[in-house]
Formats: sequence, C-alpha cells, structure tokens
Amino acid sequence: MFKFTLLLALTVITVSNALKCYQGMQNASYPLSGVASDCAATAMTCTKLFDVQTNSVYRACGTSNCTSNGVMTSVSQCLNLTSQINCCCYGDGCNTGSSYSYITGILMAVFGTGIAAML
Ligand SMILES: *[C@@H]1O[C@H](CO)[C@@H](O)[C@H](O)[C@H]1NC(C)=O
Ligand SMILES: *[C@@H]1O[C@H](CO)[C@@H](O)[C@H](O)[C@H]1NC(C)=O
Ligand SMILES: *[C@@H]1O[C@H](CO)[C@@H](O)[C@H](O)[C@H]1NC(C)=O
Repeated sequence: MFKFTLLLALTVITVSNALKCYQGMQNASYPLSGVASDCAATAMTCTKLFDVQTNSVYRACGTSNCTSNGVMTSVSQCLNLTSQINCCCYGDGCNTGSSYSYITGILMAVFGTGIAAML
C-alpha cells in the first residue's frame, strides 16, 4: 500500500512537472529578477533574446529544440547576431544571465557562492 502511494505520488509529480522558464521582458542593465514559472506542456526549451539596440532582454519558453546553423542540438547555446543575441537552453530556469551568455551566469553563480562561503 505504501509502495503504491509512493508510486502514485511520483506519477503525479512527473505529470505536473512542466518546464519552468523565466518569462518576460527586462532592462538588461539590471540583474534578473522574478522566478522561473511554468511553461505550457509543449515547451521543450527556455529562450533568451538580448536586443542590443534597446538593451532589453526577452525571456520565454520555447516549443522547439535548440538549433545551431539549422541543426537541432541537445546542448544549450547562444547565437550572436548583429543586433541581438539569441539563446536557447534546456532545463528548469536555465535562461538566466543578464544578456550575453550562460557562462557568465554560471561563473557568477560559482563566484557568488564562493563569496557567500567566505562570509
Ligand atoms: C535601462 O536602464 C538604464 C539604466 O538605468 C537606462 O539608462 C535605460 O534607459 C533603460 N532602458 C530601458 C529600455 O528602459
Ligand atoms: C527534440 O529533440 C528530441 C531529442 O532529440 C526529439 O525526440 C524531439 O522529437 C525533438 N522535438 C522537436 C519539436 O523537434
Ligand atoms: C557579437 O558579435 C558582435 C559583432 O561581431 C561583436 O561586436 C560582439 O562583441 C559579440 N558579442 C558577444 C557577446 O560575443
């Protein structure tokens, strides 16, 4: 009975486990605020578009896989176009970072954790 309940609970968690992405538009001069929220069930990826002209970052859920030169890839990546940087990534709340790349976000997260550990 316990096993059955556990199995049921796991099933429910799996079913309701929609991808979460940061969503909305933000001024790139400011750090990311808000939380990642549920995407539609069809979402596969999270996206981030940095518009150089307006200095704005647009974050959303993506319904297709990430692509590189038109070829689907299973890794997260950013495409640097002339007036915008287009990023696509896999995983809950992965579309962080202020504008350019995920590396910056990851480095800052590691760095931030290091600082926090020293305090
Ligand atoms: C973003 O913030 C900067 C610094 O406060 C400001 O100069 C700029 O006008 C803002 N851009 C937008 C699109 O709101
Ligand atoms: C995305 O990639 C996965 C794994 O390669 C594949 O199974 C799926 O069909 C792709 N989805 C779309 C919408 O291309
Ligand atoms: C993107 O490309 C432009 C033009 O080639 C370049 O000036 C800019 O530094 C690049 N940005 C990043 C983050 O790679």
